[in-house]
Amino acid sequence: MIFYFSATGNTRHAARRIADETGDRIISITDCLKNNIFDFSLSSGEMLGFACPVYNFGLPVTVIDFIEKMNIFGSCGYAFTLVTLGGFSGGASKMLKDKLNQKGIKTDACFSVVMPDTWTPAYDLSDRKKVAETNRRADIKISRIIKQIRKKARGNFDYRKIPFGDKFYAGYEDLRRTATLSVDENCIGCGLCEKQCPVNAIEIRDGKPVWVREKCAMCLGCLHHCPAFAIQRGESTKSHGQYTHI
Ligand SMILES: Cc1cc2nc3c(=O)[nH]c(=O)nc-3n(C[C@H](O)[C@H](O)[C@H](O)COP(=O)(O)O)c2cc1C
Ligand code: SF4
Ligand code: SF4
Repeated sequence: MIFYFSATGNTRHAARRIADETGDRIISITDCLKNNIFDFSLSSGEMLGFACPVYNFGLPVTVIDFIEKMNIFGSCGYAFTLVTLGGFSGGASKMLKDKLNQKGIKTDACFSVVMPDTWTPAYDLSDRKKVAETNRRADIKISRIIKQIRKKARGNFDYRKIPFGDKFYAGYEDLRRTATLSVDENCIGCGLCEKQCPVNAIEIRDGKPVWVREKCAMCLGCLHHCPAFAIQRGESTKSHGQYTHI
């Protein structure tokens, strides 16, 4: 049973590859949160995985919320965490390990994989070749991780961690303000952003998205999935392009 949170598909891709090659299944944290599904039973010795992107060197608020609410019955044979990230994971793997520990889940291994950085207020994803190369390297790394998971490897295999993650993570709170998101005249009123949002922060009113919560997860799923590229965050996102993992 591999739980994953993914806004733009990187983490879902990694989780799905691991599941496919180990005969496991993936469970979307977003679907669980939206449908209030929090109770899960493991078959004897079943593997348990948690996969999510790194946000501000820490965890997306959705993942924290889910872990706090979930109940997992039965004991697992092997538990691992996987974070996907654009550059550095900071303290995300430790945070995930600690959160799971608080729920009585002891993890055996943590892994990380560098993938295209979806934080386009800062990073430019408009060069398709560069993005494809990052994903090619990521797939090689995921293949190595699969081998380690098959062997039930134990240890800290997150080589992208750096100290002072906590300080940077404190900035996530401010980053989550929905007032920083905007919609332009290209919006065709399709409603995809409303459906896409993992925390129900968007409502379509008079054919346009309105952010109805002061804070969201700031996953940028609405920005990257919009068919008209009508949602922006600041001045740079328009030129930095949209991205979803195919
Ligand atoms: C709000 C936000 C914050 C992010 N912070 C970090 C970060 O601190 N370090 C990093 O390496 N990547 C960071 N990223 C990049 C994502 O972790 C990375 O692109 C991830 O693979 C996206 O996964 P997904 O496609 O499954 O949503 C951030 C992305 C977002 C949207
Ligand atoms: S996904 Fe884009 S086009 Fe569709 S309603 Fe939202 S902003 Fe408008
Ligand atoms: S409003 Fe957009 S950025 Fe915020 S959580 Fe919803 S989909 Fe993600």
